[in-house]
Amino acid sequence: MAKMNLSLFGLFMIFFLLFNLCLSCPGDQKQALVQFKSLVMKATNSSADDPLFGLYTWNSSSDCCQWERVICTTSESRPVIALYLDSLVLMSLFEVTTISSMVLTPLFAVTSLMILDISSNYIQGEIPGHAFANLTKLVYLDMKQNNFTGSISPQVFRLRSLRFLDMSGNELTGDLSKQVSSLQNLRELSLEENRFGGSIPEEIGNLSKLRRLSLRGNSFVGGIPSSLVSLKELQVLDLRENSLSMEIPDEIGDHLTNLTTLVLSDNKLTGGIPSSLQKLGKLETIRFENNLLSGEIPSWLFDIKTLKKLFLGGNKNLTWNNNNNARIVPKCMLSQLSMKSCGLSGKIPGWISTHKSLVFLDLSENQLQGPFPEWLAEMDIGSIFLSGNNLSGSPPPRLFQTPSLSVLSLSRNNFSGELPENVGDAIKLMILMLAGNNFSGEIPKSITKIYRLLLLDLARNRFSGKPPNFDPEALLAFIDMSYNEFSGEIPVSFSLDARILALGSNNFSGNLPWNLTNLSKLEQLDLHDNGITGEFPRFLSQISTLQVLNLRNNSLQCSIPDEIANLRNLRILDASSNNLTGKIPAKFGNLVGMIDTPNTLSSTSDLFTFSIEFNDLIVNWKKSKLGLPSYKLEIYSLLDLSKNKLSGQIPTSIGSLKGLKLLNISYNNLSGNIPVSFGYLQSLESLDLSHNQLSGLIPPTLVKLKQLSTLDVSNNKLEGKIPVGGQMDTMNDPNYYANNTGLCGMQIQLPCPVEPPPPKQQQDEKEKAYWVSWQGVAIGYPISFLFTVVILWFSGYFQAALALSQQRRRISIRQNSLRSVF
Ligand SMILES: *[C@@H]1O[C@H](CO)[C@@H](O)[C@H](O)[C@H]1NC(C)=O
Ligand SMILES: *[C@@H]1O[C@H](CO)[C@@H](O)[C@H](O)[C@H]1NC(C)=O
Ligand SMILES: *[C@@H]1O[C@H](CO)[C@@H](O)[C@H](O)[C@H]1NC(C)=O
Ligand SMILES: *[C@@H]1O[C@H](CO)[C@@H](O)[C@H](O)[C@H]1NC(C)=O
Ligand SMILES: *[C@@H]1O[C@H](CO)[C@@H](O)[C@H](O)[C@H]1NC(C)=O
Ligand SMILES: *[C@@H]1O[C@H](CO)[C@@H](O)[C@H](O)[C@H]1NC(C)=O
Ligand SMILES: *[C@@H]1O[C@H](CO)[C@@H](O)[C@H](O)[C@H]1NC(C)=O
Ligand SMILES: *[C@@H]1O[C@H](CO)[C@@H](O)[C@H](O)[C@H]1NC(C)=O
Ligand SMILES: *[C@@H]1O[C@H](CO)[C@@H](O)[C@H](O)[C@H]1NC(C)=O
Ligand SMILES: *[C@@H]1O[C@H](CO)[C@@H](O)[C@H](O)[C@H]1NC(C)=O
Ligand SMILES: *[C@@H]1O[C@H](CO)[C@@H](O)[C@H](O)[C@H]1NC(C)=O
Ligand SMILES: *[C@@H]1O[C@H](CO)[C@@H](O)[C@H](O)[C@H]1NC(C)=O
Repeated sequence: MAKMNLSLFGLFMIFFLLFNLCLSCPGDQKQALVQFKSLVMKATNSSADDPLFGLYTWNSSSDCCQWERVICTTSESRPVIALYLDSLVLMSLFEVTTISSMVLTPLFAVTSLMILDISSNYIQGEIPGHAFANLTKLVYLDMKQNNFTGSISPQVFRLRSLRFLDMSGNELTGDLSKQVSSLQNLRELSLEENRFGGSIPEEIGNLSKLRRLSLRGNSFVGGIPSSLVSLKELQVLDLRENSLSMEIPDEIGDHLTNLTTLVLSDNKLTGGIPSSLQKLGKLETIRFENNLLSGEIPSWLFDIKTLKKLFLGGNKNLTWNNNNNARIVPKCMLSQLSMKSCGLSGKIPGWISTHKSLVFLDLSENQLQGPFPEWLAEMDIGSIFLSGNNLSGSPPPRLFQTPSLSVLSLSRNNFSGELPENVGDAIKLMILMLAGNNFSGEIPKSITKIYRLLLLDLARNRFSGKPPNFDPEALLAFIDMSYNEFSGEIPVSFSLDARILALGSNNFSGNLPWNLTNLSKLEQLDLHDNGITGEFPRFLSQISTLQVLNLRNNSLQCSIPDEIANLRNLRILDASSNNLTGKIPAKFGNLVGMIDTPNTLSSTSDLFTFSIEFNDLIVNWKKSKLGLPSYKLEIYSLLDLSKNKLSGQIPTSIGSLKGLKLLNISYNNLSGNIPVSFGYLQSLESLDLSHNQLSGLIPPTLVKLKQLSTLDVSNNKLEGKIPVGGQMDTMNDPNYYANNTGLCGMQIQLPCPVEPPPPKQQQDEKEKAYWVSWQGVAIGYPISFLFTVVILWFSGYFQAALALSQQRRRISIRQNSLRSVF
């Protein structure tokens, strides 16, 4: 079928080429296209003959039917019927420029257009006013992955021939702006916004020829418009990732008889699954996950013979009646099934085995018990998510012999025993997550044979012995073996691509091996709570990519080397509870990563992401432990050198670490004054200087620390008046000032001899809000965090492959859309 289409397409092309030789496109259309090109060039600062610029073949002295991305008809006047203007800008991937939507204006004069694809171009702003009024022949309109804002222009709803409409990945809302302009007062506005404001316009029902409609990833609110039922020819409806609410209209099943794909996930839809869906005899895909649906999951879903993909997870109140398990005989043959948090209990239901072609199974966050069934191991499923259940025993060895297994998540269950010796047979495995079980024994050596393994999470088990030597050339980049009973020297035989290495809370001992520096892409190194001895490893300063270094609670000695200050990316350094001596290096003031206000994820990171739970970094926060979410660790900057034997004065330069949220140098032998420069630590929320030999005054500059919520200066030799004003007024726990030489002030209700304390200010409420918000953060993150794994090297690959694939991709898109037109 595909082959035939390809050759047909080839014939088309030859046909076009032949005709191109004698005929050329209409002059006014060429003019419009040239104008469009020059607008885009200007907007993107591109050069006309740069082959990476998508329009480089558009040369005004040639026939526009011969340009790339342009297709004309074969009729005599040769009007342009198709423009494939996708990804014009994506080529300069890492220098994202945005283009104003005004560049599109010339295109709206090409009235013969049937196909217009302007997807993936970073076009910004509203769709120009009367834009589509004259493009009455449009059949295929693809505007996805831009940044269009405002509402869909009404002209779009007059394009009666439209069969394909994709506006996903923009920031479109309903017709709010127009309503706002006609409204008189603000009160009415908020009402309107709730009722119709950003909803999908009812006029969508006028596009009665539509076969595919995608409004994915916009900002629509309100209900799904009932006029959708007029789209009788609709095959694909994708409204996911908006904020749609209310119930799914029951009429959908009564009218959209040709529907194959219904995707409503990641909205706020309520109510139950409409029973009319069982009338849809062609339905292949139902994706309702992550809404607010409720009620019992109807078992008739499994009677829809054509159904292949069913996603229901993440609806808190949508539950499965476990009595169905015994009697259900599915009539469909699913390839993908997600029933995450659907209240499944008992054993893993046997009816799953009837879906012989299953490639994706997510039954995580249920109350399933019993062993990993042998029949499930034999099914050869690509991705299996069973985390957050109460499964026990050991996964059957058969599982690892299935040729497709690429993702296996068994975290947070009650599995026990040793991992099967043959785990390495799963040569396609990319992600293996076994955290939070009772696995014991050594990790089977065979695991090192899995070249593609990218993420290995074995945390919180009872694994012991020495971890095996991994292949330095392998892909393994994310490794968490913390909270186990591993012993021996710190292992360093990992992939040279390792980004995160977490080995904390084990029984490793000895000096850190210097060739750890071969792991030159390491971003996080977590070795806390082991028995590491020797000097503070100077060579760590060679791993310039390091962002997080956790050496807490080991037995490191001697002084902290100055070189550590060369780690430009270091944002979190925890060397507390060791035996470090000497001074705090004055060079620490150069730690760039702790100076810059932390920023958010870089733009490359969302190219290839998938969300999984992985590696929470646990640090001391105030007087307790706090887990930091790996997926946005970027926003934290901490320096903890407490519980060592550091001495001398605190270097003034520490005051330049403006990004620090926490500074803890308590329980040392530091002497001298608290630096006045601490007043510049503008992000600081917690400052612990207790249990040292600090003397003199608490510097009045601390009043400038607007984020401060915890200050402990107890057990020093401080004296004089505690500064008043700003956050200092709320620092009134006497325990945090205790055991000093002579502190006084209103905070500890001890009047100073000279000056009476000023009247208390009315700031308490606001200050507490800060505290609460940080606490909220701490409570909001459970033991394991959602972590977005960023496969950065894929993006490198992506970049190189992009240019090559452009041509091929365009042709395949052309083929598809031509097929849908003709
Ligand atoms: C465009 O490129 C020129 C030269 O490459 C550069 O000087 C100019 O700043 C760029 N303009 C914009 C808006 O990027
Ligand atoms: C257009 O192409 C012709 C020949 O192919 C070339 O001589 C001319 O310089 C090109 N013009 C532009 C503006 O690139
Ligand atoms: C549509 O065509 C009419 C008549 O040719 C013209 O006046 C109008 O400007 C066109 N609209 C757009 C948006 O090009
Ligand atoms: C889209 O535009 C909005 C507002 O103009 C902006 O805040 C947002 O960052 C833009 N998004 C992208 C992906 O460019
Ligand atoms: C949609 O169709 C209705 C009649 O079916 C008509 O009244 C209305 O004007 C149309 N809307 C648009 C935007 O064409
Ligand atoms: C549904 O699809 C079939 C076959 O593609 C077609 O013949 C029929 O007209 C379609 N039904 C509607 C209501 O469009
Ligand atoms: C879920 O059910 C509980 C109790 O049955 C109810 O209190 C809660 O409001 C429901 N939540 C939603 C989102 O429907
Ligand atoms: C887990 O299953 C075991 C039986 O295998 C049972 O004793 C235990 O109570 C279950 N735990 C939970 C949290 O459901
Ligand atoms: C784990 O399974 C054992 C039996 O194998 C059971 O005694 C124990 O309660 C289970 N643990 C949990 C947390 O369910
Ligand atoms: C470090 O050296 C040991 C022993 O020489 C070797 O097994 C290991 O692979 C090396 N590690 C790295 C990352 O080079
Ligand atoms: C620190 O060193 C002293 C002796 O110098 C030793 O007694 C103590 O156990 C060491 N502490 C740690 C945590 O290694
Ligand atoms: C003050 O010092 C005494 C004696 O060393 C100690 O018992 C007490 O706990 C200290 N108070 C505080 C708040 O640290």
